[in-house]
Amino acid sequence: MLSDFLTDLAARMAAVPERGAVADYIPELARIDPNQFAVSVCLADGTQISHGDADVPFSIQSVSKVFALALGLGRFADNLWIRVGREPSSNAFNSVVDLELEMGKPRNPFVNAGAIVVTDALLTARSPREALAEMLRFVRAAAGDDHIYIDEELAKSENLTGHRNWSLAYFLKSSDNLTHECDLTLGTYFHQCAIEMTCTQLARAGRFLAGLDTKHELISRNNVRSINALMMTCGHYDGSGEFAYRVGFPGKSGVGGGIMAVVPGIASIAVWSPGLNRYGNSQLGTIALEEISDALNWSVF
Ligand code: DON
Repeated sequence: MLSDFLTDLAARMAAVPERGAVADYIPELARIDPNQFAVSVCLADGTQISHGDADVPFSIQSVSKVFALALGLGRFADNLWIRVGREPSSNAFNSVVDLELEMGKPRNPFVNAGAIVVTDALLTARSPREALAEMLRFVRAAAGDDHIYIDEELAKSENLTGHRNWSLAYFLKSSDNLTHECDLTLGTYFHQCAIEMTCTQLARAGRFLAGLDTKHELISRNNVRSINALMMTCGHYDGSGEFAYRVGFPGKSGVGGGIMAVVPGIASIAVWSPGLNRYGNSQLGTIALEEISDALNWSVF
């Protein structure tokens, strides 16, 4: 039974000694206890099974890029692709070199440069406050839970220490691919990354991408398809091929250690464990998803 399998999985993951390293370039994340693990699965019949530290809020970080993309595609449709590409990257998520090689057009909306451009687009005709309120409304509606907030301290700390993102923003600006001032766009981007959710909430929030939330059509079928394709090919940065090979369904990671994953028509899954592998993706989260995929035969291939 799925619940028994997940109970056992959570217990085994809690005991693994090799947990990866927490993201230390964001001071708040460097302090998180790596000995945590959570898994939550939502199924087509409406049931949800959660185990481990599934009610502990964590910083969703780059998982927020999926929600930003959903809003961006909803507002700008294909015009978004004038400013950002749809190809996987072979360099790290915060690479500057990719941006220079592509003349200021980020390779995809999930690397930092691409996400900064999407956030910049979301600021069209919106103040940062309005854009963030819109994003929170979307995430809360997706999760069916109003208790989802932004960790202001974390956003502030990343604003002060995220020098790499500042360099990406200035490079984008110099390439005429940033409409707003760097501090406006980055301030919004850092707040978006600092959304806190529990694993239980994140699994529920992914249901619209798995086609499970039939009551509310949050975005079009076409956009669901586009986002899943990008999560599959780019959701784990330069580790996306490895993730597709091992897990076999779309997923998006964040340096907070969360992964939101989608088994189309079958399940929405969230895993959380703060230790990261060398690509900046949750080490145990990836292993757990691989085990789930193998045990339930959920690979799309
Ligand atoms: O911009 C950053 O570096 C972070 N706020 C988000 C990066 C991230 O989550 C990469 N994911 N694995």
